[in-house]
Amino acid sequence: MRPPGPRGLPILGSLLDIRRDPAGVFLRAALKYGDVAYFKVGPRQGYLITNPSDVRHVLQDNARNYQKSPLYQKLRMHLGNGLLTSEGEFWLRQRRIAQPAFHRQHVAGLAHVMAIAARESAAEWQALAEHGRAVDVDEEMMRLTRTVVVRALLGSDLGPYTERIDAAWTTINEYIGENFWSIGLTAWLPSARRRRFEAARQLLREAVDYVIRERRRNPGDTPDLLSMLLAARDDDTGEGMTDEQLRVEVTTFLLAGQETTSLALTWTWYLLSQHPQARQRLEDELDNVLGGRPPEYADLASLPYTRMVVDEAMRLYPPAWGFSRQALGDDQLSGYHLPRGWMAFVVPYVLHRLPSLWEDPETFDPDRFSPARSADRSKFAYVPFGAGPRQCIGNQFALIEAQLIVATLAQRFRPRLVPGHRVEAWPLITLRPRFGMPMFIEPRLA
Ligand code: HEM
Repeated sequence: MRPPGPRGLPILGSLLDIRRDPAGVFLRAALKYGDVAYFKVGPRQGYLITNPSDVRHVLQDNARNYQKSPLYQKLRMHLGNGLLTSEGEFWLRQRRIAQPAFHRQHVAGLAHVMAIAARESAAEWQALAEHGRAVDVDEEMMRLTRTVVVRALLGSDLGPYTERIDAAWTTINEYIGENFWSIGLTAWLPSARRRRFEAARQLLREAVDYVIRERRRNPGDTPDLLSMLLAARDDDTGEGMTDEQLRVEVTTFLLAGQETTSLALTWTWYLLSQHPQARQRLEDELDNVLGGRPPEYADLASLPYTRMVVDEAMRLYPPAWGFSRQALGDDQLSGYHLPRGWMAFVVPYVLHRLPSLWEDPETFDPDRFSPARSADRSKFAYVPFGAGPRQCIGNQFALIEAQLIVATLAQRFRPRLVPGHRVEAWPLITLRPRFGMPMFIEPRLA
């Protein structure tokens, strides 16, 4: 027996609806059909799963029975076979090489780089505040998190490419995101969009080659990710990574590390601007703990509300809003048979908004992440970083970075949404604000 689900069209199933509004289609299906909903998406079939125990089963307990879904092939095609998109032995080897660079202790050592970058932004915001001009906080956060990931992981900057890289990323993300749910019939036809995409991809390639070339020229002794990737040797053959493989991994870290964290921050600023009480509590915490000095890594444990604000922003607007797996063998989900080759859709955007899992799910309430109120919640009801062996390798990195940036900037400024601006979540690969996030940077009256 198949679980219930939207009827969709013959042949195409729910493809057109999903292309139009993927997050909304999945959310409505979960509310209507419960734990498991059947979907046909073009040639593929699968289940949307929203019971935390099924999520745990697919991502963790029975992870060996699943691979990343064919949708990832599009990412692989455009970005190469790297840590995010590869499978099996090859993935495990790459993950082992990269893992030490992401241990909490190592990341703590990089926190100063994050704190400095946040202070540089604070200095720029000071100037903006004095001029009373609006700025797109989405772009601001992209620039800031790009600076952090490049400095912390690659120990350098993008040299002559610095200014152009963000626009290139936006082009790449939009192109892949908009084509993500298509069946690919027209993807290879020449078009202006495709040309722009190819140009952006070429720019990114050149930028990454530049970083690798510079490091080979000046190896230094920074124990960052790039040096680990450069030093990695295959246990059997003793060979290092090829230039192409290096390029793929560096590109993966730039993509996975910049944009997601940036979006978590952009949505945080938006939510704070809409919820003065939460903002006040945040400011009180910052004033009490920091007394006006800028935050450092050692302060983070004393700033629990700051962390809860970030957690809550990622609940409502999970930057990686949805992902999927393909079953390698038959399986059972909530009593339903999932045939081999079918998909399991895990959609944090939906899981995080279900009334069965969250009290007043649409309400911004950072306090719900307090230890007391989190105690009874399944870990698999909240998965902004995924779970199991393929869980985000950069989760500690991202959380430390986000907490430091929010603390540094909220301590001095109150970004205020430009009145009347329409804010709409746009689920591409990541969950972006469709019309940007223009805000006035107002100084706090200390
Ligand atoms: C708020 C920020 C972030 C969010 C929400 C996020 C989310 C995720 C999610 C959901 C996955 C798993 C996808 C799946 O299972 O299909 C993932 C994987 C990954 N993330 Fe993140 N991420 C963030 C920040 C970062 C950072 C800072 C880095 C690196 C600097 C990073 C690097 C990666 C990599 C390499 C993978 C693939 C891991 C593997 O398959 O072994 N991410 N991320």
